[in-house]
Amino acid sequence: MIALAILFMKYISHNGKLVNPEQATIPVLSKAMFFNFAVYESIKVVAGKGFFTEYHIDRLLHSASLIGLEHSFSKKNILRWIDDLSKNSENKDLLIRILLMGAGDENEEPQLFMFPLGLTFYPDKFYRRGVKVITYEGERMLPQAKSKDLLLNFLAHRVAVKSDALDAILVDRGGNMREGTRTNLFAIKGNSLVTSPVDKVLDGITRRILFEAVRGDEKLSVVEEDIPLKDIENYDGFFLTSTSMNVMPIRQIDDVVIAKEVHPKIKEIAKRFKQYSQSHT
Ligand SMILES: Cc1ncc(COP(=O)(O)O)c(C=O)c1O
Repeated sequence: MIALAILFMKYISHNGKLVNPEQATIPVLSKAMFFNFAVYESIKVVAGKGFFTEYHIDRLLHSASLIGLEHSFSKKNILRWIDDLSKNSENKDLLIRILLMGAGDENEEPQLFMFPLGLTFYPDKFYRRGVKVITYEGERMLPQAKSKDLLLNFLAHRVAVKSDALDAILVDRGGNMREGTRTNLFAIKGNSLVTSPVDKVLDGITRRILFEAVRGDEKLSVVEEDIPLKDIENYDGFFLTSTSMNVMPIRQIDDVVIAKEVHPKIKEIAKRFKQYSQSHT
């Protein structure tokens, strides 16, 4: 699979220069690589146009500062290099992954890699019927940083795949469902749209766009508070958000079927998200 991906990948951007994929390598002795001293982003590009690209770059720079990763890459240059890479990619629909590696010691230099991957699409029936998720005990370190420390996400997602679920919801030591391994979690409770407080999760770009899309709606108040796993039956519905999923309804959490049908409020929110995001890109 990897070989195939490389075959279709014409260029990788390394510190702003387009190079052949074989040239974009990280030495096995790199301390930054060994200690995961790096942050990353995944940016959706549709028909050659980036989806809220600036939000992603701001978050990349914020993640870097949260882990004390010093570098001299500017937002202006990163935006230019993304443009360069997408113009020179064979496909116009892409997911551009950005990897910003720090200097692991005084002999290393920060490095910025960008590489184009294919977009992930989910079957329509997932959106119509909702998906299954599982729960997994674990807390991300520095939750607001999109860091390369992804072992927890990997292990939890692997269990999800084995359980025929789309994602695993990470449950913290207080028994609260915080977020997925690659998604934010939302719940509907009456007229409230509930999601974990931003200091406990990744400040998802989709989460942010969704807040903008529903702002001013008197019939829906956004509440940032813990969502205890033991209380799932007190909520009317749940959904996930992410760059590749957008708004994905949840049908089942572990063995509990939450809703046989997607809640009308979730349908409405998904519609509002789509309208808002289309008119702001
Ligand atoms: C832990 C975690 N939470 C939430 C998200 C969703 O973020 P976004 O909406 O920016 O894709 C991601 C995305 O990768 C993630 O890794």
